[in-house]
Amino acid sequence: MTQTPTLLVCTAKDQDDWRRAVSALLPEAIVRTGIDAPPCDYVIVWKPPAELFAAQTRLKAIFSLGAGVDGLLAMPALPADVPLVRMEDGGMAPQMIEYALYVALRRLRRFGDYERSQAQASWSPRPARPRGDLRIGVLGLGVLGGEVARALAQFGFRVSGWSRTPKSIQHVACESGDAGLTRMLAHSEVLLVFLPSTPATQGLIGRDFLRMLPAGACIANLSRGEILDEAALLAALDDGRIDEAHLDVFAHEPLPPAHPLWRHARVRVTPHIAALTDPVIAAEQVVGKIRRLQAGLPITGVVDRRQRY
Ligand code: NAP
Ligand code: GLV
Repeated sequence: MTQTPTLLVCTAKDQDDWRRAVSALLPEAIVRTGIDAPPCDYVIVWKPPAELFAAQTRLKAIFSLGAGVDGLLAMPALPADVPLVRMEDGGMAPQMIEYALYVALRRLRRFGDYERSQAQASWSPRPARPRGDLRIGVLGLGVLGGEVARALAQFGFRVSGWSRTPKSIQHVACESGDAGLTRMLAHSEVLLVFLPSTPATQGLIGRDFLRMLPAGACIANLSRGEILDEAALLAALDDGRIDEAHLDVFAHEPLPPAHPLWRHARVRVTPHIAALTDPVIAAEQVVGKIRRLQAGLPITGVVDRRQRY
């Protein structure tokens, strides 16, 4: 007979809501909050304090409420031998698709150009463009980037994608490796970033990388700020190589008030809201995985500690 599972919920906000949601779905479990809780089987976290792990000496798994686990992996206190499980979609893919569609449609329909025309009271109609004419590159074809690439291709855009290992997605030209990246970037009039922050991706998008894009391309970083060299982006925006940047994530968050990205005419800033975990979907996902672990079954979403995502 399986033992009563004990769970500890430690989220930066809405902790009691999370505790109630998990308890309702797993009534047989003891669900606690608070960093001084006795040792539990599972912990469900978002931005936990380091002290949390000191008392948790018999964890069977750590569940992240976020898709990105770079913050958790950077914590020296994170137990090295306990499986770390990330959020897979958790209601975020539809939100990422909406953001990506906004960026793509803004480019296709030249809404940025019309904003600038309006600022000069200039009536300047431009020719229409078919959707299939717009070439979009998606960096990262995982749970979120893969869904975005699929949706944009279904909408009629011409989509390429790049991932570490080879992928196959219908109507998406999937690339991997350095040569694949060069090929993809050369045609990406819109570049969307869905890579995790790892030693291999941090600083990846710098001056030389931006130069591989067609002149006047547009970029949207919706994953992690560390992947993009902000100074190189500002230089590329200033010399016109990059036409517009949509940034949801930054090297330092919140973006400091004096940062030039806030005021650059060609930059659109959002405060790390591209996609937010849906509590109902997330609680169901975590509880489903706990049930499988309790039954001795394998689960998906276990972070590869060597790849760091
Ligand atoms: P995921 O499923 O782990 O997908 C990551 C993708 O990046 C995979 O296709 C992976 O390749 C690829 N990749 C990783 N390292 C690479 C490398 N060195 N070279 C080329 N490709 C590489 O992650 P996800 O769930 O889609 O989420 C992506 C990221 O979005 C998260 O890590 C998080 O940082 C960010 N995020 C941001 C927000 C927000 O609101 N702004 C919300 C949620 C998530 P393989 O397929 O070959 O493994
Ligand atoms: C948010 O940034 C996440 O990684 O889920």
